Amino acid sequence: MPTILLTGATGYIASHTWLALQEAGFDVVGVDDFSNSSPEVLVRLQELGGKAPVFHRLDVGDPAALQTVFEQHRIDAVVHFAAFKAVGESTRKPLAYYGNNLGSLINVCKTMQQHGVQRLVFSSSATVYGKPERLPIREDSPLSTTNPYGATKLMSEQILRDLEQSDAAWHIACLRYFNPVGAHPSGRIGEDPQGIPNNLMPYVAQVAVGQRDRLQVFGKDYDTPDGTGVRDYIHVMDLAEGHVAALRYLFEQRRSVTVNLGTGQGYSVLDVVRAYERASGRPVPYEIVARRPGDIDACYADPALARSLLGWQAQRDLDAMCADSWRWQSQNPTGFRTPGAAA
Ligand code: WQD
Repeated sequence: MPTILLTGATGYIASHTWLALQEAGFDVVGVDDFSNSSPEVLVRLQELGGKAPVFHRLDVGDPAALQTVFEQHRIDAVVHFAAFKAVGESTRKPLAYYGNNLGSLINVCKTMQQHGVQRLVFSSSATVYGKPERLPIREDSPLSTTNPYGATKLMSEQILRDLEQSDAAWHIACLRYFNPVGAHPSGRIGEDPQGIPNNLMPYVAQVAVGQRDRLQVFGKDYDTPDGTGVRDYIHVMDLAEGHVAALRYLFEQRRSVTVNLGTGQGYSVLDVVRAYERASGRPVPYEIVARRPGDIDACYADPALARSLLGWQAQRDLDAMCADSWRWQSQNPTGFRTPGAAA
């Protein structure tokens, strides 16, 4: 079976994709610099996957380091996850975001080209749609961004389109994730944000487990059914399976594709709070505060193209997302950091 290189391999979505690829019969080589993940993930992957992960610690922006991986392994395709991804941080550190996110992508593509590897799955984001004019969002919706992080995703997609135009041998799948949440059903891997979570579900999880007093709901005056923000939450296991489907498409159809990976169902902040209370059996107290700058009213996908081209659609509902998130959170209250270890 083909060998797939994962960059950012010990991160949240990549680690779940690693397991889904192994289950689908692919061989996997992972690389990461642990700048936003833990080596403990490799221990969990061996436990869950039943074999020692093939892994190299490196910065994918380092040409020499990445070269050695392609010399040591016969790579057939790459899934590029490695990137900085915090919207707020990107407005404070734009050069770090442009340098890392674009520099790493370009280095990965250059190294692939040197070794005749021209199948790539790219981790993009619904953030490239900015404030959508129409809902649900289709792949031909207008693109715009309001922050440097989103701009790096939009620019990355443009770089990849130019690459495809320059050499028809490139087959690239751009996957626009909506809101990834949840965890592997074993409860052994999941989302492990450093510091105060920026995103809703990990914050709700920390309130439910008692690590935080209450959730701050960023605004209740949006143009939505209950006034709180509506998003398309997608289970990380569905997302991982979407990457397997995208790789199969590249190998079989030998064409490029850009698709939304979402459920097509929008849920409000208060919907998520109520679902998490049901899943955990714990209260999730909250207070309504001011809107967060840059937030939009509502965002959810039209998932039809991924269904028709990739034969993929999300299978897991919000209750499953919350139940799997809760199992991970309650069984690993300090994430991958072993209790007592240095933070
Ligand atoms: C969801 C909803 C908030 C936290 C971001 C990035 C996007 C992607 C996913 C990388 C919104 C509300 C949140 C809180 C709240 N990341 N909220 N209190 O903003 O849709 O998307 O993460 O690709 O690029 O933009 O996700 O989880 O931050 O917010 O009320 O403490 O929850 O206002 O309505 P978002 P989110």
